[in-house]
Amino acid sequence: MRILITGGCGFVGANLARHFLTGGHEVILLDNLARRGSEYNVEDLTRLGARFVHGDVRCVEDLAPLPRVDAICETSAQPSAIDGYANPLYDLSNNTFGLLNVLEKARRDDAVLVFWSTNKVYSGDRVNAIPVREAATRWEWDAASKYRARGFSFEKGISDQFDVDGGQHSIYGLSKICADLICQEWADAFGVRTVVNRFSCLAGPGQFGKSAQGWVAWWVIAFHFGLPLVYIGWQGKQVRDALFTPDINRLVELEIKHIDRAAGQVFNIGGGMSCCVSLQEMTAWCEKRFGAKVPVRIEPTPRKADHAVYITDASKAEKLLGWRPQVGLDEGLEQICAWVDREHDRLARLYGK
Ligand SMILES: NC(=O)c1ccc[n+]([C@@H]2O[C@H](COP(=O)([O-])OP(=O)(O)OC[C@H]3O[C@@H](n4cnc5c(N)ncnc54)[C@H](O)[C@@H]3O)[C@@H](O)[C@H]2O)c1
Repeated sequence: MRILITGGCGFVGANLARHFLTGGHEVILLDNLARRGSEYNVEDLTRLGARFVHGDVRCVEDLAPLPRVDAICETSAQPSAIDGYANPLYDLSNNTFGLLNVLEKARRDDAVLVFWSTNKVYSGDRVNAIPVREAATRWEWDAASKYRARGFSFEKGISDQFDVDGGQHSIYGLSKICADLICQEWADAFGVRTVVNRFSCLAGPGQFGKSAQGWVAWWVIAFHFGLPLVYIGWQGKQVRDALFTPDINRLVELEIKHIDRAAGQVFNIGGGMSCCVSLQEMTAWCEKRFGAKVPVRIEPTPRKADHAVYITDASKAEKLLGWRPQVGLDEGLEQICAWVDREHDRLARLYGK
């Protein structure tokens, strides 16, 4: 197969590229290298056989000369839920209008298009309406409240049936829900074989994490270099389910292989109940792993549109594709630690150490 990965030098795209190259596929990477660190992947991936095109999804001219492809993985984005407030038009032009150019290429090529959507399509208002109770190191959904909502259960979490309406998605979330709906509409209107994955927190080696995005890798990097951390809101007890790169790669491969079942679908994808962690717990894990502490500042006010607890119900992907996450928290975090050790010199330059 010939596969185009837009945003192919970013964290997710580069891991996916390695996976497909190992599987003997032809891989084209299109990236504008806007994300710091993505430039490091160009040399590594071209050495493995990928073709790199320095281009921008917002420019039709950059996509037009590319050869016909069988599948497109659209991973490019401004992916921070915080940065969008400073420059909303950038998020919308990049994440929404950029997608349109990629979709049109999929339409011309009759290619499968897998789209990276996000749990931020579910607003802070809706998710935080689920009652929580405070435990020692995390907030937990309060099953005693008997709260009910479509697409939610205390046992499984939040499925794709959860309500996407209501305010406070963040500008990033808004740009993604627009793109997510456009994919669904293109599937219906033009028969483009789109698959939408609403991912929760993605993590793994190769993630140049920062406070504003990619927090799991950022925690490990901060402990490695002794950098300060900050809890923004909820005393660091906010909870996310983490999904690691081998599980992302396996999912996408299954979706392309079984496109007869996956086309036109929306999936909620994440590590689920068995792979969730709060910021405080992540700090404790790192303190034990590194045998050291770093300064942690606590900011009382949560980030706008942020979720207190978000855990994915991915049972639809299990039902339709036989996919379920396999990488546990300890294993996934150890993979990040090993990468940070290996890449110490590069990361030292990036993080100013
Ligand atoms: N990391 C997460 O926790 C997470 C969670 C849910 C969804 N997502 C989505 O997954 C996708 C991949 O995220 P990531 O963590 O790999 O982010 P990333 O920033 O590491 O990778 C994105 C890549 O896209 C490139 N890019 C940005 N704008 C571009 C443009 N206009 N044209 C071409 N390339 C462009 C960047 O240079 C970067 O290499 C994104 O769409 C993101 O919104 C990420």
